[in-house]
Amino acid sequence: MTEQTLRSSDWNGRNGHQWLLHQGRLDAMLAPFGSAAIAAGALMPDMQVLDIGCGAGDSTLAIAEQVGENGTALGIDISQALIGRARERAEATGSRARFDLSDAAQASFPAAMFDCLFSRFGVMFFDDPVAAFPHLRPTLKPDGQLLFACWRSAGDNDWVRLPMRAIAEIVSPTPPPPPHAPGPFSFGDPARITHILSAAGFGDIVITPFDHDILFGETVAAAVQRALDVGPLERALAGQPDTVRARAIMAVGNAFDARRTDRGVVINGAAWIVAARPVAH
Ligand SMILES: C[S@@+](CC[C@H](N)C(=O)[O-])C[C@H]1O[C@@H](n2cnc3c(N)ncnc32)[C@H](O)[C@@H]1O
Repeated sequence: MTEQTLRSSDWNGRNGHQWLLHQGRLDAMLAPFGSAAIAAGALMPDMQVLDIGCGAGDSTLAIAEQVGENGTALGIDISQALIGRARERAEATGSRARFDLSDAAQASFPAAMFDCLFSRFGVMFFDDPVAAFPHLRPTLKPDGQLLFACWRSAGDNDWVRLPMRAIAEIVSPTPPPPPHAPGPFSFGDPARITHILSAAGFGDIVITPFDHDILFGETVAAAVQRALDVGPLERALAGQPDTVRARAIMAVGNAFDARRTDRGVVINGAAWIVAARPVAH
């Protein structure tokens, strides 16, 4: 696997802009996973919810509907471009969701402010989750809940395993990232999640597998383009000569073609849904 480390600064560069380019499709792809994480808890009207790494705000907007006019749905993200898009969406839809440009690992909130800390595929990008979770835990009310969705391993997720395997003999592998480097699969090991959350003062940790079909593209060409624009394939092919890219694109197209259905290229997505509560001191 030639996956590279994805540092938080990348979200203010090319990665954030590529995400914006595909935002509608990515939201459609990720929404079922976010809904599963919300359903794992008990979000109710009037609750105060923090959406960590909210990106363009899709899940925050959904949470704002659930908590109603006396609740709070606050999305925070380090990407200026994505927070900008989230604010535009809230304004356009009249949503009460609010958005702040802020690093969750450093943001300062009053103690016991939130009923729920939520994240849809955000927390595995923390530069240092071992420090970030203890920083966030005191912001939860004693009976509050942590709920998030994160990917299982790359090997469990064909939307990345297939294209990366297709290019393995074409692109020379980059050195493997340090173990647990921030990136989409850094929380793939449930033992690691348990370890990080326990050390941060969380208990009642429940980690449940959740699988859902992803419509990766309406056509094979669209699926290849998406893989080229966002995610591990994009990073693996960055800077490769045109001849290598052309061969890689052909190989990825063939791999996706094997998953073509009447709807388009449909591939299973494999996530963990994580729920936990703060431990009383
Ligand atoms: C894979 S995207 C998911 C975005 C959004 N939650 C969604 O589901 O569409 C990960 C997001 O986490 C954000 N992020 C990474 N590290 C962060 C941090 N330390 N604090 C806040 N946001 C962070 C990135 O900027 C990016 O928008």
